[in-house]
Amino acid sequence: MGYSNNGDDMARILIIIGSRREGNSAILAKKIKEAMKKERISVDIITPGNQKIYLCTGCMDCDENGVCDFKDDMVENIEKVKQADYLIWITPTRWNLLSGDLKIFMDRLNPLYASRKLEGKKMIALIIGAKKKSEYSTDGALTSLGSFADSSGMKMVYHTEFNDCLEYEDILNQEQKIIKTIEEIKKVIKQ
Ligand SMILES: Cc1cc2nc3c(=O)[nH]c(=O)nc-3n(C[C@H](O)[C@H](O)[C@H](O)COP(=O)(O)O)c2cc1C
Repeated sequence: MGYSNNGDDMARILIIIGSRREGNSAILAKKIKEAMKKERISVDIITPGNQKIYLCTGCMDCDENGVCDFKDDMVENIEKVKQADYLIWITPTRWNLLSGDLKIFMDRLNPLYASRKLEGKKMIALIIGAKKKSEYSTDGALTSLGSFADSSGMKMVYHTEFNDCLEYEDILNQEQKIIKTIEEIKKVIKQ
């Protein structure tokens, strides 16, 4: 099951978590990883907010040579993104937007954008928020991630939102939605 761009027959998934706490985003990421393990699909999880990542200065050196001058945890992250066929972004909603940690991470992916190495990758966006669905609070995060995918030549293949998640483990009250989300992810990877 799953197709890779890397010459292997298995898809490679990288989950990027936008929350630093062991809360809803981390719980969802672990559940996806466990489910994919059963399908023998390799999943790596990174939490940029808990890493050492300098802010992009906008020097644009990477536009010239596809390499960032900073030597921090993004060196390894960039290799992981390069290898991945599917990038699953899990973000808490913050002020109706995506998490700041993910924006910083996105900016530091410019070397891959500049060398056109994001093109053709598949993106999945999972947005988590405390507000109700009727308040449309998760829309801004989805728009940002969608626009990043469009600009960089990635394809958004699936997205969904989890509402009513305020406390660390509120997402566990939505077991059916988690199961459905994992099934949908499996489906898009099988295509
Ligand atoms: C600074 C801040 C701003 C937030 N803004 C929103 C918001 O605009 N809409 C919303 O639905 N939830 C908002 N939340 C709530 C989080 O999205 C929610 O608690 C989420 O479940 C956190 O995910 P986590 O458990 O993975 O950290 C905000 C939380 C913080 C800390």
